[in-house]
Amino acid sequence: MSHRKVTITAALPYANGPVHLGHLAGAYLPADFYVRYRRMLGDDVLFICGSDEHGVPITIGAKKEGISPQALVDRNHALIKKTFADFGISFDIYGRTSDPIHHETSQEMFRDLLEKGAFDVEETQQFYDEAAGQFLADRYISGTCPKCGNPNAYGDQCEQCGSTLSPQELQNPRSTLSGNPPVLRPTTNWYLPLDKLQHSFLNQYINSREDWKSNVLGQCKSWLNEGLKPRAMTRDLDWGVQVPVAGADGKVLYVWFEAPIGYISNTRKLRPDDWQQYWTGDAELIHFIGKDNIVFHCIIFPAMLHLYGHGFVLPKQVPANEFLNLEGAKISTSRNWAVWVHEYMHDLPGREDELRYVLGSIMPETKDSEFTWKDWQTRINSELVGIFGNFVNRAMVLCGKFHEGKVPGAVPIQEVPAAVREAWDLCAVELQSSLDAMRDSLKHFRFRDALAEMMNMARAGNKFLAVTEPWKLKDDYRTRAFILNRALHIAANLMLASEVFLPRTAENLTSQLAFSPDTALRLRFWKGELQTELLSEHHSLGTPALLFRQVEDAVVEEQIQKLKNMNKESAADASPEGQFVMQPLKDTIQYDDFAKMDIRVARVLEAERIPKADKLLKLTLDTGLDTRTVLSGIAEHFSPEEVKGRSVLLLANLAPRNMRGIDSEGMILMAEGADGKLYFVQPDGPVDAGSNVS
Ligand code: MF3
Ligand code: ZN
Repeated sequence: MSHRKVTITAALPYANGPVHLGHLAGAYLPADFYVRYRRMLGDDVLFICGSDEHGVPITIGAKKEGISPQALVDRNHALIKKTFADFGISFDIYGRTSDPIHHETSQEMFRDLLEKGAFDVEETQQFYDEAAGQFLADRYISGTCPKCGNPNAYGDQCEQCGSTLSPQELQNPRSTLSGNPPVLRPTTNWYLPLDKLQHSFLNQYINSREDWKSNVLGQCKSWLNEGLKPRAMTRDLDWGVQVPVAGADGKVLYVWFEAPIGYISNTRKLRPDDWQQYWTGDAELIHFIGKDNIVFHCIIFPAMLHLYGHGFVLPKQVPANEFLNLEGAKISTSRNWAVWVHEYMHDLPGREDELRYVLGSIMPETKDSEFTWKDWQTRINSELVGIFGNFVNRAMVLCGKFHEGKVPGAVPIQEVPAAVREAWDLCAVELQSSLDAMRDSLKHFRFRDALAEMMNMARAGNKFLAVTEPWKLKDDYRTRAFILNRALHIAANLMLASEVFLPRTAENLTSQLAFSPDTALRLRFWKGELQTELLSEHHSLGTPALLFRQVEDAVVEEQIQKLKNMNKESAADASPEGQFVMQPLKDTIQYDDFAKMDIRVARVLEAERIPKADKLLKLTLDTGLDTRTVLSGIAEHFSPEEVKGRSVLLLANLAPRNMRGIDSEGMILMAEGADGKLYFVQPDGPVDAGSNVS
């Protein structure tokens, strides 16, 4: 039998931090499901991954911590590698791009492309920090966003308005290394002429990928429609893979040039003698990634492989996922709005398969989706515990109770009552159709559907027991034996199915059934043969044990609280690089404009909440001139008691406004802290109500 060589990759995670649930749901979990499925089919699969250890975020992170980039990636690489292993992601290798074999491999490819004349050499003006003595990567330049005025936009993008920028567009650019304005200096770099490649190769390549997912094709086509531009494949940086050209000191390969080559170098590391077989000929190449990686895997890397030649295959499929949101907001590592996988496993030991199931069920396959702890709990309790676990446990316990923990004999179906016969016939049809649908879904990267079909098999089992009620058949030994024999076989099929999705559950089932599948059996099952004659009569079963544990409300509350606390802590030490964003200077005004404002000191006589208005407090103020009512949007920051008796600054001649049926005559001046809280602005000495501020 010929074994198809299949190289399956998952995006090399940046070694600048740990992995979170979004990473799992986006790339690693679907890849792992698919890999396990292809292995079951007997394909010769290599599952390749490793840490992406270069790139500017790593040098910035290291600088912040005051350690070397190598020390930072060493630490994160070890953590990420262990996290994936503990979580059951079945990589054949998890290497790293700081490995010499990777430096060699990517330099070799660069040299080869250079000799082929694949690059255009171009001199451009780049920002340079004279004090630091180095060229500045886009991330090392900040300045005012030309689109929204955010004074802390980066050279590559503005985090406030989301615009993609180039450093030359920033107003008042400064170096984040020295704080000085950078100067422009000429530099030479090697460019991949994607504009030309679009016409000679990429248009046709993308247009022929009719079987790619529509979210992936959509993004590719929109890049092509906009027209590709040449992109520098080398950068003036010191952390990365040296450009292998004499005189190119101080230059490294662009991280998006060398990181995908990491797939090749990791294959080489794993299989030094025959790695080429997995990259050439009729090998199949499949990349699992998140949507932010699409252009690199569908356009730039294929263009590189195409130019490189040497019989290398191009990506056959790139089943990219969209993003996973968390509790109503985008996952953000800088705001610490994330569930870290290693922390999940620490806090919730033994619940890896539960997470695999839940993330698999909500995977952002065609559009963004959302993880909430409440939903995690519901899916575990009502599906894994209530359906899957419940079915297996009933089958096992009934065999323990009525058949001494042995497999009851397979009584011929003609010998059982018609109702039981019909129930089994129906159940078998349902099982078969779920198995077929599950296989078809896996084949087409529809993992949510595939998992739902696995659960449907357990549902069919439960229904079969509910209809036939074997526990009531005290004296009808043969009918009961028939039913329980069928039930154990359903459990065995569930074991085979869960090998793809829930490896620990599969092991648990294997030991309860005291039966291990072999390669041939797995192949038959995954080719679509429902298994109904596996377990021989009188075969001794293992001890029944619960497959899944119920999740209590307190666990959910604790996790939600933890998330909120982490987020608060990160907001509290937010710097301009974090969440706190300085507002830009407003347009110049004349003194007359200021003099029009009547700002006075006032004293709060009364404060009360307003029913159904969470944000507003109703204040009664002594302004020195009169007593008046002002509504202030501070109710989330202060209780009425905290406000009563205070001196405040009031904009007293602001036109009255009616809110919630109350006239508000003026506005209290507040300052916003870096923690996002509001603070009163008040005189720092004994100033009477009514005093003017000028
Ligand atoms: N490190 C990148 C990310 O996390 C992915 C790199 S994938 C590779 O988005 F192909 F470049 F390796
Ligand atoms: Zn902006």
